[in-house]
Amino acid sequence: MTTATPVLLQLLPLPFPEAQQRLAQRFDLIELWKEQDPDAVIAARQNEIVAVVTSAMTPTSAKLIDKLPNLRAICSHGVGYDAIDVKHAQKKGIQVSNTPDVLNDCVADLALGLLLATARRLGQAERYVRSNLWSTDAKFPLGVKVSHKKIGIVGLGRIGMAIAQRAKGFDMEIRYHNRRQRTDVGLTYEPSLVELAAWADFLVIATVGGPDTRHLVNDDVIKALGRDGILINISRGTVVDETAMVNALVSGELGGAGLDVYESEPTVPDALKTLDNVVIVPHIASATSETRKAMADLVAANAEAFAKTGNVITPIPP
Ligand code: DGY
Repeated sequence: MTTATPVLLQLLPLPFPEAQQRLAQRFDLIELWKEQDPDAVIAARQNEIVAVVTSAMTPTSAKLIDKLPNLRAICSHGVGYDAIDVKHAQKKGIQVSNTPDVLNDCVADLALGLLLATARRLGQAERYVRSNLWSTDAKFPLGVKVSHKKIGIVGLGRIGMAIAQRAKGFDMEIRYHNRRQRTDVGLTYEPSLVELAAWADFLVIATVGGPDTRHLVNDDVIKALGRDGILINISRGTVVDETAMVNALVSGELGGAGLDVYESEPTVPDALKTLDNVVIVPHIASATSETRKAMADLVAANAEAFAKTGNVITPIPP
């Protein structure tokens, strides 16, 4: 008796050939990015598809899910899942996996990198040297000290904890705001985000994206952080009211910002590109070869496990 090879719809390639190869060994792959008419391909094979590979940045809508009556698993590359209609999939009994943990270190490293770069004006200092402005009588503006300062972490999940660990290395005073207080971490909980911002020198956003956290960091929070405060965002652009943030940076009501994420990526508001108190990078928190490889391997492992056992390894909990 022969068992048919399961069909997997891949919305994007995995960035490492070995991981891609692992998928090809287990599945009949529909490599959608290679197709001239992707909608026609999906329509022609919709009944066969049992799994989808997608990413944290690739919209995976209820509309697509509903086109695939035999879909049982969605395996995503990335930890965030606000681009995927997870609730809709789970309601239909479809498992959704992400790639948690393997990127905690690199995302936390970038959070501290942005914090240091913004506080110490590294972007501006680089531009200054590259533009040949450095001379014996020139004065470069002073930055602010990081060690022993106060850091407020918004979202104390695994990445938030990795940020806290690093902040301890700088002897920083740490408080956090979270959906619920954690009794297992020995850190001070602040139930009011405005109070946390008013207390903090640096407010680091590490919470999940999606409708529940949209504009959690609003004008009140930004103003509370204030003219000496620095906002760092490595989570999702939608968590911060970007217009309020840009206005506060331009008017000087917010001291600075270090940003990896934006509300409408890849669009970055033009005003941010002109400000010296801002460090902007293109959503690269997990972008190291080691971490991206680990993420690709975990996607392949989730898809393989699903093909073998019917269950993914790292499901997003309902
Ligand atoms: C994630 O994993 O959610 C990142 O933000 C995407 O690279």
